[in-house]
Amino acid sequence: MRGTASAPGRVNLIGEHIDYNGGTVLPAALSVGVTVELEPRDDDRVLLVADQYDDPVERLISEEASGDWSDPSVGALREARALGLINAGASLTIRSNIPQGAGLSSSAALTVAILKAARAAGGVGRPDDQEIALAARRVENDYLGVPCGIMDQFAVAIAKPGMAMALDTKSLQYDLLDLPQDHTFVVIHSGVSRKLTDGRYKTRKIECDQAKAYFGTDDLCHLDPDAVRSSDLDATIRKRALHCATEHRRVLATVEALKAKDTAGVGDLMNASHVSMRDDFEMSLEPIDALVDDAMSAGALGARLTGGGFGGCITALVANEGKDDWLYELLRLHPRAKFICGA
Ligand code: GLA
Repeated sequence: MRGTASAPGRVNLIGEHIDYNGGTVLPAALSVGVTVELEPRDDDRVLLVADQYDDPVERLISEEASGDWSDPSVGALREARALGLINAGASLTIRSNIPQGAGLSSSAALTVAILKAARAAGGVGRPDDQEIALAARRVENDYLGVPCGIMDQFAVAIAKPGMAMALDTKSLQYDLLDLPQDHTFVVIHSGVSRKLTDGRYKTRKIECDQAKAYFGTDDLCHLDPDAVRSSDLDATIRKRALHCATEHRRVLATVEALKAKDTAGVGDLMNASHVSMRDDFEMSLEPIDALVDDAMSAGALGARLTGGGFGGCITALVANEGKDDWLYELLRLHPRAKFICGA
């Protein structure tokens, strides 16, 4: 039986690089997304057609990752087979309007949509969405070699547009929160593309592992920031740990500010988050800092880099009234930047 499923992209409103350090994150589903049609096959071939790529690709489900765009699809099908949803290969037709290399979870959305399409094709109503998210994370960690946390897969498997998801990445408990009615989290691509597989994400993960070993905990987010500041840890590693400890607190404060409809407070926390990503986690780039600065000068309440970093998108909190003028001014100053959508 054929199966069809969709998954949205996501923007992380705040809480970067803390989903593998015991923190709480705050992603929201976007209106852009990916749709997959899957037809199980009797042989081990994987046939792929995708609207973001010109040529169809043929792989074998037994193949290891090769650096090709089709790797996430092959990895997702291997997980689908391990879960008993398909018996061999599959033909996939993929339609997506999530920009790649933008920090909007195009890869997580694709793997989750493939797993959900395989579930639909299997016709047995299992596994549930949380298990799908965990399987999609295994594709990244074990097949693609990206040591990411659970945020992206969880958000795109479960979150719905219009709500933010406060996700405790340790317990996997989450709360769904209303987004502001009179303000928008605008998502803008900086024009600088990046790949999670390019090694910089992994370097930050290794640095966090060094901090974990020093403090004797897996949960850098739960350390007292003052204890981190006064430690005699190597200066670079100390900054990485400090970002985790302060960012986690900013997420919890943002959740409270959103509940209190304190948009100015949310904006201040976003700005502080960007400074921490820029100076302590060192995951921003000069053109992105300039975009964030100009987003603020043009009238946003807050603005920050979002996602894995080293390129990709910013998100800015902007009043709906005057939003179009704000956007016009920002894109006029930054011709390489591109409006993606709002949340
Ligand atoms: C990528 C990873 C996530 C998370 C973010 C940074 O999107 O896939 O697990 O670590 O970067 O917050």
